[in-house]
Amino acid sequence: MAMLKLSVILIVLDFAFFPCLTTSIGQYDYFQMVYQWQPAYCVGRKDPCRIKPSKIFTIHGLWPSNFSDIPGDKCKGALFNDSLMSQDPTLVSELQRSWPDVGGGDDMGFWGRQWNKHGTCSEQTFGQIQYFQRADAIWNKAKMNITMILKNNKISAGGGKYNYTHIEGVIKRAIGDTPIIRCIWRKRAQLLHEVVTCWSQDGQNLIKCNSTQKCSSNFDIEFL
Ligand SMILES: *[C@@H]1O[C@H](CO)[C@@H](O)[C@H](O)[C@H]1NC(C)=O
Ligand SMILES: *[C@@H]1O[C@H](CO)[C@@H](O)[C@H](O)[C@H]1NC(C)=O
Ligand SMILES: *[C@@H]1O[C@H](CO)[C@@H](O)[C@H](O)[C@H]1NC(C)=O
Ligand SMILES: *[C@@H]1O[C@H](CO)[C@@H](O)[C@H](O)[C@H]1NC(C)=O
Ligand SMILES: *[C@@H]1O[C@H](CO)[C@@H](O)[C@H](O)[C@H]1NC(C)=O
Repeated sequence: MAMLKLSVILIVLDFAFFPCLTTSIGQYDYFQMVYQWQPAYCVGRKDPCRIKPSKIFTIHGLWPSNFSDIPGDKCKGALFNDSLMSQDPTLVSELQRSWPDVGGGDDMGFWGRQWNKHGTCSEQTFGQIQYFQRADAIWNKAKMNITMILKNNKISAGGGKYNYTHIEGVIKRAIGDTPIIRCIWRKRAQLLHEVVTCWSQDGQNLIKCNSTQKCSSNFDIEFL
């Protein structure tokens, strides 16, 4: 009986403290899974890429985000720890495929900066290892292969031009929900730079993206 009372008290305490814990670590509404088209990324960068870009979408980052699009303060989670990565023996080699640092050729450095800037905002959901495992798992889903989806729908790299609605529609039909597409401008043309799919706060379910940060619908999008 005493045990039972104690556990009831503990449960009550748990509920009382849980909200404080979650708000003190980081707050976000959902995740943006950001894929970058390597050739456009390298064109948009100040310094030349150190790795020759491949015609493939790889991960830029998995970003805890707010529906308001207003960025919050710096998050307070634990900073990136290199040596944790080897706790999952296949993780580093997986990420070298899915999340390479084409710009600087320093994969671990890139992952560290992404974790410190973004991953720390969702540390209550995913610890460091789980965060990178989740992003890699999304990238590996056959249905979510953005490179393949565009190719199969005749949205061809190499300078083809397509309108926003068309690219959005093709990806939406394949994955099941609205993505967003981001561009960079070069010589008065907008280049397809990033494709973003959106995920529920627990990172498990695809949701509709409705961020306003995307390419202009008034101009065609060039696919380098
Ligand atoms: C989301 O908004 C909240 C409240 O303004 C803010 O504290 C938090 O840092 C924001 N999260 C992100 C990831 O920008
Ligand atoms: C990094 O992780 C390793 C392995 O778990 C641990 O021994 C070390 O204390 C951690 N370093 C920091 C700064 O937290
Ligand atoms: C995605 O599709 C491309 C193009 O068909 C293919 O080369 C690549 O291996 C696929 N990636 C994954 C993770 O299945
Ligand atoms: C966008 O492109 C598609 C496919 O080429 C075309 O059917 C559609 O009319 C275009 N929409 C606009 C608004 O230009
Ligand atoms: C975006 O979607 C979320 C979740 O469905 C919703 O709460 C929010 O109001 C939407 N924002 C806009 C600008 O449509």
